[in-house]
Amino acid sequence: MRAFGLRCGVDGLMLLACCLLGCTLGCNSEPPKPHVSYDPGTADFYRQDVAPIFKTNCYRCHGGMNRKGEYSMQTSAGLVRGGKHGVAVIPGDPTGSLLVKLIRHEGPKDNPMPMPDKRKKLSDANIAIVERWIRAGAALPEDLPRP
Ligand code: HEC
Repeated sequence: MRAFGLRCGVDGLMLLACCLLGCTLGCNSEPPKPHVSYDPGTADFYRQDVAPIFKTNCYRCHGGMNRKGEYSMQTSAGLVRGGKHGVAVIPGDPTGSLLVKLIRHEGPKDNPMPMPDKRKKLSDANIAIVERWIRAGAALPEDLPRP
């Protein structure tokens, strides 16, 4: 009897584990897209490699209705044009671009401030991706909404 109880318990656990696993696999039914190495001078590179960085780290304050510093990053024109401090992205010139100075935390110290703040600074790898994209000409997809 005891042994039976134990078995049942173990089987129950296994069943639960299977359900959980099945669900994580099942619910996530879309297979992860393979990472393609796009040329940094293409809009595809922006779409795959750059946009997710901006979405995760910047849209909270510069996407949709959010225009901190009068800066919206969600439209092609806006992303490049910048906000109240002027041009944010100079295609071909990452070091001269205000956006890069700010994400490297090497810009003017407080006006505008480093982006995002110290605790949330982008990883070096992500900063390098943004720089590579700007150096190659900051190509943007046609379908990015325009203001
Ligand atoms: C928590 C909110 C917040 C987040 C997140 C944020 N910013 Fe900002 N950003 C601001 C504010 C506020 C200003 C205006 C600062 C000022 O005027 O001194 C600003 C200004 C800027 C400016 C200058 C606009 C101008 O001309 O004044 C740039 C460029 C910029 N942000 C880029 C970014 C980038 C790139 C990211 C993501 C990597 C980012 N920001 C994330 C709040 C944010």
